[in-house]
Amino acid sequence: MNNPENKGRRGFLNWMLGTTFGGLATAVFYPVWKYLQPPKGVESNPSSVLAGTISEMKPNSGKIIKYGSKPVILLRTPEGDFKAYTAICTHLACIVQYREDFEHIWCACHNGHYDLQGRNISGPPPRPLDPYEVHVKEEKIFVSRIT
Ligand code: FES
Repeated sequence: MNNPENKGRRGFLNWMLGTTFGGLATAVFYPVWKYLQPPKGVESNPSSVLAGTISEMKPNSGKIIKYGSKPVILLRTPEGDFKAYTAICTHLACIVQYREDFEHIWCACHNGHYDLQGRNISGPPPRPLDPYEVHVKEEKIFVSRIT
């Protein structure tokens, strides 16, 4: 029973079981641990984001930017003013867009319309879009929350 050959086999089996269990535990828990970590470089609620430059936004245009993890629509009115609102439609949460032909914000999902002040003016959206502040510093456009 206690010969060196058995001890070698038993040691090998114990080593195999230990590494198999360790590998299995790593394979199960590492993806769960990684899933629970917040993504790097994306602040969920920043105080201000760089949204672009003046030269890349001609009057009567708009674009969707990321404000942390949330979409925001930045637009430049036909008069050249900058405005920003949440890009999530107040009806059923589709992403709105700027329509140059309408000269206002439009939601393609159910034909919802918002004016340049973010007010719901036509279609099913029940309330206005939440506004954000826009600051222009030199050539750069910054969007921030209204405090
Ligand atoms: S989700 Fe925008 S109009 Fe319905």
